[in-house]
Amino acid sequence: MSLSLGAWHPLATRAARRSSDWVDLQWSHIVAALRRVAPRARGRLLDVGCGDKPYEPIFLPHVTEYVGVEQETTFTATAAAHKARRPDVLYDGARLPFEDRTFDTVLSVQVLEHTPRPQALVLEMSRVLKDEGVLILSAPFTARLHEQPHDYFRYTPHGLAALTAAADLEIVEVLAQGSLWSVLGHKLNSYLTLRVARVAGLAQALGKLSHENVAGQVRPRLWTLPVVGPAVVAVAAGARLLDRLAPEPEEALGFVAVARRVSRAGAPRG
Ligand SMILES: C[S@@+](CC[C@H](N)C(=O)[O-])C[C@H]1O[C@@H](n2cnc3c(N)ncnc32)[C@H](O)[C@@H]1O
Repeated sequence: MSLSLGAWHPLATRAARRSSDWVDLQWSHIVAALRRVAPRARGRLLDVGCGDKPYEPIFLPHVTEYVGVEQETTFTATAAAHKARRPDVLYDGARLPFEDRTFDTVLSVQVLEHTPRPQALVLEMSRVLKDEGVLILSAPFTARLHEQPHDYFRYTPHGLAALTAAADLEIVEVLAQGSLWSVLGHKLNSYLTLRVARVAGLAQALGKLSHENVAGQVRPRLWTLPVVGPAVVAVAAGARLLDRLAPEPEEALGFVAVARRVSRAGAPRG
């Protein structure tokens, strides 16, 4: 059976995407955290490891320009490489192809776990930031293995603070993405959707999981959906409720850190 949704009525596709976003606790928490910090963005924004730029609509109202840059080798292996919305610049993943102090804001979402040299990448982000510029970093604290073999690390708020401090950046704010119940719910829903119903291909047809490889996907088990569908909705609803009623501060799916570039007053350019 073809998983192409091209023939679907656009409203049905949009409704399916909204529903799948709502049960996808990781996506929901990342988007909610980015919406909260987006007003801190300004001027020229660089999205490092932008993929198919899923967060551009959140930041565009706050910035004058949105530039996406990607590491060519890893990006071309993902489903995002086949999408209409593409990075503006591709590079080798080592030195960002921009002058020092070029951007007012640097954004990087779920990228730091995919580079074997995260400190070097944060130093590069800091280099291209103007003085007092803003860095917005999102990174997972717990997540299943993905984009293998390029999946190297997970991050605590203290790890993000250490990486940024070593790059002349001061942490301004850190937001947790969900709590214990979202962690448990997300793991369970990932298992139900990806292993039981095997709907990764369907999710990609809806525009999700675009950072994953497209090759080698197994046939979906659509006959499980009458059970899996209501189950994932119940799990997501329960997790959202319990995160509010019984928050656990030592658990989260990930963190968003906002940092400010310390002024290089007196330092020579370059
Ligand atoms: C999980 S995806 C996230 C994509 C996008 N930010 C999002 O949230 O949908 C990780 C991305 O990081 C990119 N990446 C890995 N190392 C990078 C580097 N050194 N510079 C820029 N991008 C990098 C990969 O190509 C991949 O597209």
